[in-house]
Amino acid sequence: MTAPRDPTMSGRSARAGGDLPRIVFRPPVEADHRRLVDIVDHWFGRPVRARLGRMWFVHFTATSLIGETLDPRSPDPDLPRVAAFLVGFASPDRPGEAVIHMAAVAPEWRRRGFGSAMHARWLADRAAAGAARATVAIPPDERIAWLFYRSLGFEPVTAGARPLWGIPAFPDLEGDGQDRALLERALVADGP
Ligand SMILES: CC(C)(COP(=O)(O)OP(=O)(O)OC[C@H]1O[C@@H](n2cnc3c(N)ncnc32)[C@H](O)[C@@H]1OP(=O)(O)O)[C@@H](O)C(=O)NCCC(=O)NCCS
Repeated sequence: MTAPRDPTMSGRSARAGGDLPRIVFRPPVEADHRRLVDIVDHWFGRPVRARLGRMWFVHFTATSLIGETLDPRSPDPDLPRVAAFLVGFASPDRPGEAVIHMAAVAPEWRRRGFGSAMHARWLADRAAAGAARATVAIPPDERIAWLFYRSLGFEPVTAGARPLWGIPAFPDLEGDGQDRALLERALVADGP
């Protein structure tokens, strides 16, 4: 895959010459769990906090990212604010597969390229670490998540899938009523 020109900067910020907010990435720390667990339902618009356990901020920090930005509207505009996160892992059972468990951008920072920049950084990191493909599972009725991952070049898994909400998906994949679409894309590490 092609790495962004500056992986610490959103695509739109880079295109706009840096006059729009920047997003800067770092690995999560345990304290980020407390920062995010109480707001993640709001960020997703549905109850998901049970899926964002502390373990992600303790045992999977090397394969996860926090995105921070400066908010000129906040009382302390020089204090970086968490604006995005991605928790993922390298599959122990499927060598070469990098898995996105959960990813989100704060509602007030959407459609600025932050989600794309965070995933570009994560995909480049995972490819550099030896992953050959990335996968993510989304509810098929999450239209924005579908459009977002399609915009990043993810393709739906179609073998064994059936149309749900107009896309190839797997009924009850995560339990009764928990349908999921599976998406994947190949990764190519940048050469020397
Ligand atoms: C999905 C999500 C991470 C996207 O973050 P974002 O920073 O807004 O995404 P970007 O600005 O990088 O958008 C990249 C592209 O995705 C698509 N996209 C993103 N949001 C969209 C929307 N609301 N409607 C239509 N297309 C959209 C577009 O193609 C967009 O490119 P464009 O802006 O040039 O048209 C964010 O909406 C979110 O956090 N959603 C809730 C959590 C979630 O669903 N996570 C994914 C499953 S784990």
